[in-house]
Amino acid sequence: MVKIKIDNQELEVAEGTTVLQAALDNKIDVPYFCWHSKLSIAGNCRMCLVNLKGSPKPVISCRERVREGLEVDTKSPEVKKMQQGVLEFILLNHPLDCPICDQSGECPLQDNYFKFSKFPSRIEDQKIHKPKAVPLGPLVTLDDERCIVCTRCVRFCDEVTGTHELCVTERGGHSTLRTYPGAELKNPYSLCTVDICPVGALTSTDFRFKKRVWFLKSADSICTGCATGCNIKMDWDDQIVYRYRPRENEAVNQCWMCDEGRLTYKFINDKNRVLEPLVKKHGEFQRVGWDEALAFTRKRIPREAHEVSASSCVGVVSAQASCEENTALVKFLQQVSKEPVFLTTKKEIANPSHDDFLIDADKNPNSAFLKVLGKEISYARHFPKEAVVFVLDNLTEAQKKELVDARPKLVVWLASNLWEPSHWADVVLPKPTFAEQDGTFINRQNREQKTNKAFAPRGLARPVGEVLREIRLQT
Ligand code: SF4
Ligand code: SF4
Ligand code: FES
Repeated sequence: MVKIKIDNQELEVAEGTTVLQAALDNKIDVPYFCWHSKLSIAGNCRMCLVNLKGSPKPVISCRERVREGLEVDTKSPEVKKMQQGVLEFILLNHPLDCPICDQSGECPLQDNYFKFSKFPSRIEDQKIHKPKAVPLGPLVTLDDERCIVCTRCVRFCDEVTGTHELCVTERGGHSTLRTYPGAELKNPYSLCTVDICPVGALTSTDFRFKKRVWFLKSADSICTGCATGCNIKMDWDDQIVYRYRPRENEAVNQCWMCDEGRLTYKFINDKNRVLEPLVKKHGEFQRVGWDEALAFTRKRIPREAHEVSASSCVGVVSAQASCEENTALVKFLQQVSKEPVFLTTKKEIANPSHDDFLIDADKNPNSAFLKVLGKEISYARHFPKEAVVFVLDNLTEAQKKELVDARPKLVVWLASNLWEPSHWADVVLPKPTFAEQDGTFINRQNREQKTNKAFAPRGLARPVGEVLREIRLQT
């Protein structure tokens, strides 16, 4: 550790720390654009200039390392004037059209402009015009006039994904961000470049112009796209999820997430959401109220479950569902049946994506919990004949076929989305997605992670535990 002073404040910081990091760690505001904690130091934006006592000229704080006795000035009028000058240079050709920029409201350039300068542009000539709305790949769109050439995105593709798609060509005000000839920005983490772009140059093609960010609310949650369980911020408004952004957790996903997982939010808004209970009548699902759906279910469960053979009640627990939902189903069946049978289900897809970074081939967020549960209950491999079956979330295609062949007496499907084909179920009871209720998932590292309820369940969906409790109380 070394002792330093920043703006006359005495601090003790680890040797080797940069001055910028030391300032930020101690909540001292120093503006910066090109520096990023997970990327190499480029030192090209010059926004982080500070004065050091005894130094003949200002230094960039993102590169300067602390040393014993160092005295740093980040706030004097002289330093503010330097920072203001740098900002004016950065904005020389920037369109400054925040009202029509998708980054507005979450843009460090906009924030710094308001914080440091608020000067009108002194440029008398035409600003340099550059390509606008250029698709760099399937998911990322570039507005090159807004680019401040910080090279964060270039360094991300060089240092994190190692895919090297991006480069800066030309010089000075004509500098242009491009993909290399023949290359496209389509690595599995391409949308992380949008997260780290400090201005509105890189935007998500999926999200851009869908919603002004100041209308969005945010919930801390977990991506359910695979067993990794990347930590996310779920941004939503009016019961619609608009995007996921990575939330920093050094032990799980650092500050990144994959594109595939990031776009899995769409099932929450999907048209196939089950919003009311459904009961099959004359071979067709009909919308009914909760009272009718529960009465229809109860009519078969109480008498049969207590009377008949041990294998009459079956519960299918799911690696897609939360620990709470799975536990509720297990407890319910243990209460209504002498010897319930349990099976497991999980999402299975052909040729799942995977890598040695974040993307796991297991596309289920809670496989680890089914292993934990398997220590308390044993899992059967096949459906018993003529049973009353409760299915959580969904079945694999093979399981659906086997279930139909087993000629069940009743199939109750606790689902958030009506995945097709659904001919195998008799009753569908709508459950909330993980965006609409608190939950726990155990990831591939056996870390227990929480999802937080962002908004009230859509339609008439009700939590699994509540619905099963109501069925049990009436049996
Ligand atoms: S596009 Fe964004 S991240 Fe990339 S160099 Fe330009 S400003 Fe930086
Ligand atoms: S790696 Fe897995 S958990 Fe992380 S964002 Fe991708 S799909 Fe989601
Ligand atoms: S943040 Fe230091 S030079 Fe850009």
